[in-house]
Amino acid sequence: MDQKVNIHPQVEAKIDDLLCRMTLAEKAGQLTHLSPSLVGGFDIEDLIENPELFREVKRDFHEDWIREGVVGSFGGMTGAEDINRLQKIAVEESRLGIPMIFGLDVIHGYRTIFPIPLAEACCWEPELMERTAAAAAKEAAAAGIHWTFAPMVDIARDARWGRIAEGAGEDPYLGCQAAAARVRGFQGNDFSQPDRLAACAKHYIAYGAAEGGRDYNRVDLSLQTLHEIYLPPFQAAVEAGAATVMSSFNDLNGVPASANPYTLTTVLRGQLGFNGFVVSDANSIGELVPHRFAADRKEAGLKALTAGVDMDMSTESYRHDIPELVEQGVLSLDVVDEAVRRILRVKFLAGLFDHPYRGSAALERDIHLHPQHLSLAREAARRSFVLLKNESDLLPLKKETTISLIGPLADNQADMLGSWAFTGSPKDVVTIAAGLRAAGCANLRVAQGCAINSPETEDFTEALAVAAQADVIVAVLGESAMMSGEAASRVSLDLPGNQQALLEALHATGKPLVLLLVNGRPLALPWAAQHVDAILELWQPGTQAGHAAADVLFGNYNPSGRLAVSFPYSVGQCPIYYNRPSTGRPAGAFKFTSKYIDGPWEPLYPFGYGLSYTQFAYENLRLTETEIHPEDTLYVRVTVRNAGGRRGEEVVQLYTADLVAGRVRPVKELKAFQKIALQPGESRELLFKIKASDLGYYDTAMQYVVEPGLFQLWVGPSSAEGLETTFRIV
Ligand code: BGC
Repeated sequence: MDQKVNIHPQVEAKIDDLLCRMTLAEKAGQLTHLSPSLVGGFDIEDLIENPELFREVKRDFHEDWIREGVVGSFGGMTGAEDINRLQKIAVEESRLGIPMIFGLDVIHGYRTIFPIPLAEACCWEPELMERTAAAAAKEAAAAGIHWTFAPMVDIARDARWGRIAEGAGEDPYLGCQAAAARVRGFQGNDFSQPDRLAACAKHYIAYGAAEGGRDYNRVDLSLQTLHEIYLPPFQAAVEAGAATVMSSFNDLNGVPASANPYTLTTVLRGQLGFNGFVVSDANSIGELVPHRFAADRKEAGLKALTAGVDMDMSTESYRHDIPELVEQGVLSLDVVDEAVRRILRVKFLAGLFDHPYRGSAALERDIHLHPQHLSLAREAARRSFVLLKNESDLLPLKKETTISLIGPLADNQADMLGSWAFTGSPKDVVTIAAGLRAAGCANLRVAQGCAINSPETEDFTEALAVAAQADVIVAVLGESAMMSGEAASRVSLDLPGNQQALLEALHATGKPLVLLLVNGRPLALPWAAQHVDAILELWQPGTQAGHAAADVLFGNYNPSGRLAVSFPYSVGQCPIYYNRPSTGRPAGAFKFTSKYIDGPWEPLYPFGYGLSYTQFAYENLRLTETEIHPEDTLYVRVTVRNAGGRRGEEVVQLYTADLVAGRVRPVKELKAFQKIALQPGESRELLFKIKASDLGYYDTAMQYVVEPGLFQLWVGPSSAEGLETTFRIV
């Protein structure tokens, strides 16, 4: 359903009235997003490592500027008391009393931390993503926040890029479902409600395609790939009603995304009909200078504003430079007014003029870590786990088993939260060890074994002594929270530090070995895939990590997550993704084909893959028609049967491929999925409706075409397996 930000005549009339009364300085101020400045000596690296230190640093809240009416929006603030205090200055002491909008990165929870977005995407359950976003909104709103810088909807095909953790993975169809669900979750039907937030689809656009997976790097991309792969999740977010969009740091084909009239105006406003406002990423306007796209801050501001960036986050060009640019006649007042209008429109729709204050310390106490949120966090976490290997049905384990839980993430709180969790607190986290104990695992021994990422060799004597007492060894290995997220690209996808050596030493004991992975990106683990008996991908599960892990390890919950990204064998394969365009020499036995001489070309674990404690059989794939017209719908039926001995959930995935086309097309593309639960022996017939109009592409002239011809169709448990058939568009 199209819920787009709409233009209401009554709201526009109120905006007209304000615009008539605002000075140029106040207008430029409306376009400005500031954060408190930190005063005095501090080390930014220390602050990032230990956000608690923020409380000790003296901050300047720019009260004078707020009073002058030259700050439209504020960020970097938590807590209803502080936020409402500043808001009161804007509302009661500034000349026009225009409320500020308070934004924050509420990415996967506020105080209750849910699994990282990449993990949640592995649930393939939009409804669940909607619920966790709604809970995050409720907790953040209780703390005075109006606006979240989420959802992050960047398609990411390169596991080296640390920000792959923040989005829904490599696929545009799944990405659209996640984008829309998260917007609905944050905003509800009406983001002026006291428990909702205005959403911000970010980072517009193609930020995930950074060359080499290196953060902030250049992007060189065909317009077709832009429109077919990277744009759809933004369109889905806009159609779901996203109030705002954030422009990204990268350049796109030589034009920075924060000063790109084509993407910001022609596409976003013109083609997608977006009526909310665009905020720059932090200092992405100022960075037009080091991009060498603008000579100085003033020119940067001019280029960004005229391209379509309405709000300046952190550069402070708009506040300082707009009045002068207008006075010099370089910038038209109409452009300024239009940007102010968009921001005021969102403020009116957010109900800020009627209810500028929100939340309170009492509400924070009631809502934060609410039992319903904790149980939702546990549910979301266990549903996001992906069972990658389970030799001889080693899992689930019995609670009576003597388990040695070994690794730097075995009894670790902080790293369960992942990146962008600074409003959460490590002390709220149930560690994996605590979760297993709480589940009644009496014979549990725990050892750290090594640090997450030590540059020095470490001694495993103690860990091996603990391992020697076990019936089953469960290794908990992976990355620290800060090894993914922003500015956390990696050149290696191996287990960091001495963890691989530890794993090999544990394997050498000859005992059954389970590997639990805690990480923010796909890792390349061919050795583990070959030698370890069972592998369960936990990602960064959040506050309820340990309870969720125990649920799956002991079989209270049958794992149902499926990979939202491909797992490579080796970092050298990156970028690797299932929906790659066909090549003239597909990989095969013959030497002169598209592959590597020193390793496999296909992924270790493909997109859509994941095991269950039961097995599913696919039967009877059929189409009502084998020929359809471009305006028709294809009806696809398939029967899925639980052929194992336990209740389980399956993600039934439908892929198509256009076999001959006027442009080289992907080898396959996800077009639909359904997640179903089946009792042992139960089977269900599923119906998929595929619109032929969704099977088109952008031709060489950038026209969207649905071409007649033969298509292949698969329905199966992953992108690499399934029943297949063909049909024709005529
Ligand atoms: C990030 C954004 C974030 C912003 C505000 C930037 O560094 O790229 O994702 O929303 O900071 O915190």
